[in-house]
Amino acid sequence: MSERVLTTEAGAPVADNQNSAQAGVGGPLLIQDQYLLEKLARFNRERIPERVVHARGSGAYGFFEVTDDVSAFTRAHFLGGLGRRTEVFLRFSTVAGNLGASDAVRDPRGFALKFYTEEGNYDLVGNNTPVFFIKDPLKFPDFIHSQKRDPFTGITEAENVWDFWSHSPEATHPVTWLFGDRGIPASYRHMNGYGSHTYQWVNTAGEAFWVKYHFKTNQGVRSLTNDQAAEIAGGDADSHQRDLHQAIERGVFPSWTLHVQVMPAADAARYRFNPFDLTKVWPHADYPLIKVGRLVLDRNPENVFAEVEQAAFSPNNFVPGIGPSPDKMLQGRLFAYADAHRYRLGVNHTQLAVNAPHAATARNHGRDGAMAANAGGRAKNYEPNSFGGPYETGQALGAPLAVTGFTGTHETPAHVKDDDFVQAGELYRLMSDEEKARLIANLAGSLGQVTRDDIVDRVLPHFHAADPDYGRRLAEAVREIRESDG
Ligand code: HEM
Repeated sequence: MSERVLTTEAGAPVADNQNSAQAGVGGPLLIQDQYLLEKLARFNRERIPERVVHARGSGAYGFFEVTDDVSAFTRAHFLGGLGRRTEVFLRFSTVAGNLGASDAVRDPRGFALKFYTEEGNYDLVGNNTPVFFIKDPLKFPDFIHSQKRDPFTGITEAENVWDFWSHSPEATHPVTWLFGDRGIPASYRHMNGYGSHTYQWVNTAGEAFWVKYHFKTNQGVRSLTNDQAAEIAGGDADSHQRDLHQAIERGVFPSWTLHVQVMPAADAARYRFNPFDLTKVWPHADYPLIKVGRLVLDRNPENVFAEVEQAAFSPNNFVPGIGPSPDKMLQGRLFAYADAHRYRLGVNHTQLAVNAPHAATARNHGRDGAMAANAGGRAKNYEPNSFGGPYETGQALGAPLAVTGFTGTHETPAHVKDDDFVQAGELYRLMSDEEKARLIANLAGSLGQVTRDDIVDRVLPHFHAADPDYGRRLAEAVREIRESDG
């Protein structure tokens, strides 16, 4: 049979792809038309659940190349050796919108990286924002519910968005970031990526460091104003996807330079900010950027569904020399992602080409389940075994953490300079007059839609606490909008 012949899924040739089989000319259709039944049934099953957050995204392959020596801080093999290259897959995303939403919106952008290292896949699942809106994973479902559609109106409600933030003073810094100039990137190529959390690096001597990742775009940061974004989003929902895909097809490969901030483990307890508080940054004056390497995206996926929609990243995929920090948010995420993948993609999602290790081999005794592609073959499925099965190394990936105290629910410990407003004020004061004016207008445009006085009255003092000028100007702008709306 010619390779061009259309076939059923079982490989049998299809005679007619234009007309269904009927009981006579003009008669009803036949249940024996296996091809029609198979085609309609498969079509019904084309969709899988979209991601509960970050549903809309774009992905590309490329490589990471080490340009600077950081072996003093980590024994991760892929970060050792100048010039060493590791294949990567990066999925960018927006957060709140559904799969078909527009790209050009004010929303954080996901920056999820999978390094296919020789020691297994390392996933760094970050954002384009260095900070996040909450400090405890228990609040995440509530936060996201408040930002997505209301269960009764089916509409994204400014009331819900701001009600949540008014009860979450820790969001003042990330909210200032989001409504500032960088809140709507012009494209995925024109924004930075951050690991956001603090992570642990461990060197060959077993010394531990706390690390923050910064991927600086080499295309330059470019952003959109509200008006520019509204025009683009209205005309082209796929503006980010189009930009990324077409740039790579043209051979204009986007790249980022990776820097890290490194804190010796012993500094953490006495640092003036809690270094594991995701609503805070570490000022560069305290911990300067150290260059590590460059990230280049040079290959589009062949099939968006197979490789982007089915891509599965999990912050708990570490490699030797890298581990988690006690940041409560990160700890919650160590559970949430792999659980989401088991629900959305199934237990064998790790066998899909985009998710499987590329430079290492997965060898363990996890077996079977839906869609198992014979992983493990004829090898014994228990350990220890006497048939040459894989064995443990006895060496943890990261370094142990000393803990003390009582079990129970605890607030994030505050260090001397920790309050929820100090860094929001510092960010505000760093802005030029024009940036401040745009920030106030953007915030007021959103907060001004809230009809309930108590919500507005509860949230405005947060901005005042960050900086009195910030609070005063925002209150004034919000008052004007609410009065003019009657
Ligand atoms: C406790 C807080 C958080 C929880 C429980 C959480 C949970 C989730 C879940 C369930 C998904 C969907 C996964 C999937 O179906 O594939 C997701 C996606 C994502 N999250 Fe989070 N998240 C949290 C905080 C964060 C933070 C702080 C960041 C960034 C620093 C982040 C970045 C991302 C990214 C980039 C994706 C998309 C990954 C992809 O491209 O497939 N999340 N999150």
